[in-house]
Amino acid sequence: MKLWGGRFSKEEDPRTEDFNASIALDSRMYHQDIRGSVAHAAMLAKQGILTDEERNQIISGLEQIEKDLESGVLQFSPQAEDVHMNIETFLIDRIGDVGKKLHTARSRNDQVALDLRMYLRDEIVKIKALILALQTVLLDLAEAHADTIMPGYTHLQKAQPINLGHHLMAYFEMLRRDVERLRDLRKRVNVMPLGSGALAGTGFPLDRAYVAELLDFDDVTRNSLDGVSDRDFALEFCSCAAILMMHLSRFCEELILWSSDEFSFVELDDAFTTGSSIMPQKKNPDLAELIRGKTGRVYGDLMALLTVMKSLPLAYNKDMQEDKNALFDSIDTVKACLSVMKPMLQTAAFKPERMYQGAERGFTNATDLADYLVGKGVPFRDAHAIVGQIVLACIQENITLNEMPLERYQTFSPLIEVDIFSYIDIKACMERRNLPGGTASAAVRRTIYDGRQWMRKNME
Ligand code: ARG
Repeated sequence: MKLWGGRFSKEEDPRTEDFNASIALDSRMYHQDIRGSVAHAAMLAKQGILTDEERNQIISGLEQIEKDLESGVLQFSPQAEDVHMNIETFLIDRIGDVGKKLHTARSRNDQVALDLRMYLRDEIVKIKALILALQTVLLDLAEAHADTIMPGYTHLQKAQPINLGHHLMAYFEMLRRDVERLRDLRKRVNVMPLGSGALAGTGFPLDRAYVAELLDFDDVTRNSLDGVSDRDFALEFCSCAAILMMHLSRFCEELILWSSDEFSFVELDDAFTTGSSIMPQKKNPDLAELIRGKTGRVYGDLMALLTVMKSLPLAYNKDMQEDKNALFDSIDTVKACLSVMKPMLQTAAFKPERMYQGAERGFTNATDLADYLVGKGVPFRDAHAIVGQIVLACIQENITLNEMPLERYQTFSPLIEVDIFSYIDIKACMERRNLPGGTASAAVRRTIYDGRQWMRKNME
């Protein structure tokens, strides 16, 4: 008979059982479920609701179950529906009637909320570590390439010269925000819902603060209806994950583009690319493409969970069992992507020469030419117009700004002198932007230094 079977006079139809069961998904929370039950039993005994002897039997039973689950001796069954009832059933099978006392003053509604919060809390730590590991690679690469000049783009059109270190550090900053978002989210995840009961709390004199302390929670939830029906923390995680994936996807898009023959800015390592079953010459950036593709899945998880929650009346509704599909899929996908992104990037061979050639073409120093005129007293708008004409002439004559003779320059503006050539040298243009946040090598090195300090604090 089901744990809840008392008021039923018929057996459950197998189709109901199949459709209703969530064990295939939620079994991964068994460690948290057991840890939560141990704390609940300890608190019940402290409050005189269980005897010390009962508590000891329950706790050692639960600990044994955990060991046997880990070694594979025990297996979950869909008949017991979910992880909570599987473990309670194991306990009753093993220790008999005392096991039936564990669920006193508790509902699966507050139990699942507890397990999810604990599970997510643990996963956030792992995901943060994976992001930090990727950031370490970015810092090392940025340091090695703080002088590697490349074209910076807007609209995917060459814009101004930058260095590769600066470009990579842009991704470091995105990931820094991702870590900070996760850290902030932890505050709202780490609130203890047990004691909310099914929806209205319980008449037993529970010590909720004690359970929170045993389980390393910072606080207890303040409203029992909200305690069992809040999934904001899962939604927030899915939205953090969606933003993180968007960052990875943009980066992957660039690696894909840059490894095309047209760009040839990077060559991904053989070990992190794949071949074609028909075209012998191919080396495809499949991992980068998959990360870009999986971003769609993670966005979908966020939309799915928002939609599951949008019309639910208070308090718990079974719809909420669907939260696990979205939450766990986002967790797994983000971890998998971060895990391959790191070695893929670490082994990538950037091509400084190609990047430099790219920066020399496309008039990336045109803004500096205008700035030069501004330095001679020409209002910026007028300087912009003059340089526009110079660029047009260069395009017609198929030369770069550096190749235009001085006499020709002077037909556009008599203020242009021979120092123009060193002024619009590509490297000089890059190095001139030596303000906080700028692309000069020295400015980039300062942000790398700052990044390493931040990393040290976050690794503690
Ligand atoms: N498996 C359920 C879930 O994941 C646990 C809570 C079930 N509560 C209930 N009253 N049926 O949401």
